[in-house]
Amino acid sequence: MSLHSIKYENGTLYILDQLLLPAQSKYVQIKGVEDGWKVINKMQVRGAPAIAIVGCLSLAVEIKDEKYDCKKSMRQDVEGKLNYLVSSRPTAVNMKLAADELLSLINKMCDDDGFSIEKMKERFVMVVEEMLNKDISDNKSIGDYGAKEILSHFSGDTNLRILTHCNTGSLATAGYGTALGVIRSLFALKRLEHVYCTETRPYNQGARLTAYELVHEKIPATLIVDSMVAALMRLRNVSAVVVGADRVAANGDTANKIGTYQIAVLAKFHNVPFYVAAPFTSIDAKILSGDHIVIEERPEQEMTHVGEHRIAAKGISCWNPAFDVTPAGLIAGIITERGVFKPNDLLKALNCQVE
Ligand code: MRU
Repeated sequence: MSLHSIKYENGTLYILDQLLLPAQSKYVQIKGVEDGWKVINKMQVRGAPAIAIVGCLSLAVEIKDEKYDCKKSMRQDVEGKLNYLVSSRPTAVNMKLAADELLSLINKMCDDDGFSIEKMKERFVMVVEEMLNKDISDNKSIGDYGAKEILSHFSGDTNLRILTHCNTGSLATAGYGTALGVIRSLFALKRLEHVYCTETRPYNQGARLTAYELVHEKIPATLIVDSMVAALMRLRNVSAVVVGADRVAANGDTANKIGTYQIAVLAKFHNVPFYVAAPFTSIDAKILSGDHIVIEERPEQEMTHVGEHRIAAKGISCWNPAFDVTPAGLIAGIITERGVFKPNDLLKALNCQVE
């Protein structure tokens, strides 16, 4: 059975505390927006799609029992809470896009006499629940498109060796995963020879979470530390790199976990195709390039300590950006639920979506 980062049943929400993995599998109940903001900000739940879904579900759980005097006060309350949730982490765009969608829904219902407060609540919860299910089906499409695309560059009897970075699997999404979804699909097709996953310092999403998922799924895999990527490409014949995204700009520049950019540079040097796998909910059509992406900086303790144990010399200063931006020119393709796009074609695909 697949891992579940989010458990949502009959209006009750739990998240798997990813700070405790892989040592302990413990679910934490999210009773409302304040809990939602905290678990996202502390990274007990992380990964761009999972952040948005947990944020929105935390609001759905809260408004269910809220008493509103009038529709306007409900609208005002929802808007404030959505803005608050967007502030929990700045780089991934998914929560912001979901907030925009939900706010426009609330505005429409507020102006429509056919909707009572109770009906507004029901519809709101329904739309959020749809987001949860859509994320899983989108990821499956990403997996299938990605596997097909990568395989099209190899002969029918070649099994592939894929390198991935950070965690993009069931733990980072509502289920199946994005880049890890592509790996899952290759494995299901029996065309995967091996996966290499980076440790992903400093938060170790690779060593703690991706390794955990790969072992759980019995996918043949090897863990490497981040500084081994060049050696791996030189010595282990990597077929392709597939990573996720936190925010893709309209020109295809992609923000993802710190270290992604250096892997893309190394991939170019070694002639290894470098793919980004991400749903449309990670694409920010409003920004033209990656220069406009705000990069979150995390507490230095994530670098200086392993658990409670300090490993860095006392007195040293630290720089801890959680993400970097890979220029579009290094990306062979962006694998989405609607197909694979060259970064240059993304703008066209986005315009088609608006029409
Ligand atoms: O800081 P994190 O763990 O939230 O960063 C996660 C990543 O960078 C993932 O690659 C990205 O969110 C895509 S998850 C499908």
